[in-house]
Order: sequence, then C-alpha cells, then structure tokens
Amino acid sequence: MTANVFVTRMIPQPALDRLKAAGIQFDVYSEDQVIPRDVLLKEVKGRDGVLCILTETIDAEVFDAADKAKIFANYAVGFNNVDVAEATRRGVCITNTPGVLTDATADLAWTLLMSSARRVAECDGYLRAGKYTGWGPMLWLGQDVSERTLGVIGMGRIGRAFAERAAAFRMKVLYTDAQPNKDFEAAYPYEVRFVEMDELLRKSDFVSVHVPLLDSTHHLISERELKMMQPHAILINSARGPIVDEAALVKALKEGWIWSAGLDVYEEEPAVHPELVTLPNCVLLPHLGSATIETRTRMGYIAVDNLIAFFKGEKPPTLVNPDVWKG
Ligand code: GLV
Ligand code: GLV
Repeated sequence: MTANVFVTRMIPQPALDRLKAAGIQFDVYSEDQVIPRDVLLKEVKGRDGVLCILTETIDAEVFDAADKAKIFANYAVGFNNVDVAEATRRGVCITNTPGVLTDATADLAWTLLMSSARRVAECDGYLRAGKYTGWGPMLWLGQDVSERTLGVIGMGRIGRAFAERAAAFRMKVLYTDAQPNKDFEAAYPYEVRFVEMDELLRKSDFVSVHVPLLDSTHHLISERELKMMQPHAILINSARGPIVDEAALVKALKEGWIWSAGLDVYEEEPAVHPELVTLPNCVLLPHLGSATIETRTRMGYIAVDNLIAFFKGEKPPTLVNPDVWKG
C-alpha cells in the first residue's frame, strides 16, 4: 500500500523530498495562505495522514472528514490547535516538532527583549522618516540589559535556552515552573532563584513567558500581574497569544504600568488588538519564533519522519499522545 498524505501548506522542499524518497504520495495545498476550512475538510477525505500547521484547528469535525487518517503530524512544537483528547479517543496519532526550534525561538525572544530595551523599531522608523539630524545626548534613550534581573516564566526547553543566554549579560535570573530546575541552577554562572510568580513579577526588569497554552495558562498575565510589574519593566511573549490578556496589556502600556512589550504572538492571531498597533512602546512581530531557513527545514524533517515511521508500522518518534500507541 502506498500511503497518501495531505500537506496543508508549503513547507521547505527538502522535507517534502524526504517524504517522496520514502515512497509516500502527497499533495500540498497550492495557495500561499492559510487553508480555508472547507478546502481542508474536503482535502483530508480519504487520506492516510495529514501534515498540518498551527493555523488550523484540528478537531472532531476534521477527524470526521479525515475518514481514513490515523496520523496528524503538526508542524509546530505547540499543539494547542489540536484536540488531542479527541484524537486519542479515536486512536489518531498526533505528533509535534520539539527540540529543533528551541534555539531559534529563544533567539527571537532575545531579539524582542533587546529591541524593546533599545527601542529599535521606533528608532528605525525615526531614521527612515528623515528625522535624524545628528547625535544627541538625550536622543532615544533605552535601558541597560547587562547585570539586570530577568524573570523567566516556564523553564521548559525554550525557557531554559532563553535563560542560558542571559549569562552573557551577567544577569540575575528569577524563574517559575512546576518545580525547581536544579540542573539549570547548577549550570547558570550568576545568581539564579526559583520563586513564586508574584515575586518574579515584582522584582524583574524583564519578564518573558515560556509556557504552553493550556486552560491553566490562559490570561496568566492579566491586569493583576501587569500591575505588579515595575514601571520600567518590559514584558516579552513569544509563546502563545492568549497567555497574555491583550486588552489589559494595552492599558498597561498606555497608562505606564510597564515600560514596553515585545510580542510575537497575539490573542486572536492573525488579528492584533487595534490599539496595540498605535502604541509606540511595543515591538510587534508576526509569529516568527521558529522562522529561520535551517529551523523550518528541521521542523519539516521531524514532521515527515513521524509520518514515515508511522507508515512503516513504527511508533512515531515525537508522538504527543502515546496512549494511542499502547492501545
Ligand atoms: C510555533 O509557534 C510552534 O509551536 O512551533
Ligand atoms: C519547547 O520545546 C518547550 O517545551 O519549551
């Protein structure tokens, strides 16, 4: 039997070449846009597997439409777009792409941090508008990064990679997680402390979010939390939009509860709160955490390797619902 897979959007070609070399047939959605729901529901019918991306909601309706598919390989580390419990009930394997995008995403969080601290986006706009008339002692002052306090919410793979980079700036690290990470604490060369969330918010100069989106992390950063932060503090979110209450953040930025924010993700992506785009004190990127040529190619390899293993009858290497395999 030759497996037949539907790929919901173009991914780097080398990954598709690997799928082809494995003898798997596939079609890729041909438009350079998020696949419309009706097209997705039609295309998954009769397929043996689907390679999907994080802009698609993969739920009971999709599983009904995909009458044959027993594997959905999600091209992302996050899988909040997939109803995993429903997949497990139906015996459908769900896989993700962990590990390979850790460094790229940690780098992007630092890009946001540095851009916010040094007002890079504002200054770029100022220069392009022809307003630069010469160096000035009071021109576009930002904030130091070195030797300050970094608050890391969530010490998973990405949170840790983000925190490790702070050593180059001799920063003090405060972090939260389900439990202390003794390994990180031993490896970090400057002061590091596992703290309660409230202490982290009160004491950090920079706060960066690195938790997955779950019911328990929805609006984790809301009005109460933003009010606890220092007026000079900067909030970074490169994880998932709904972790931060965007309306509360707009208020915080307008009223000066915090100094600025750097965001890569939004509550109603691709929509962005209309007031956010009018505020100078935030840097806004279009969900670029893993967006490097090398990383997106590696993500493609992991997604197709899961499909290839599955069709050989082997357990997919990064299965997120392993109960399906036992069952
Ligand atoms: C991107 O946001 C991912 O989860 O891979
Ligand atoms: C992602 O790789 C994470 O779990 O932080």
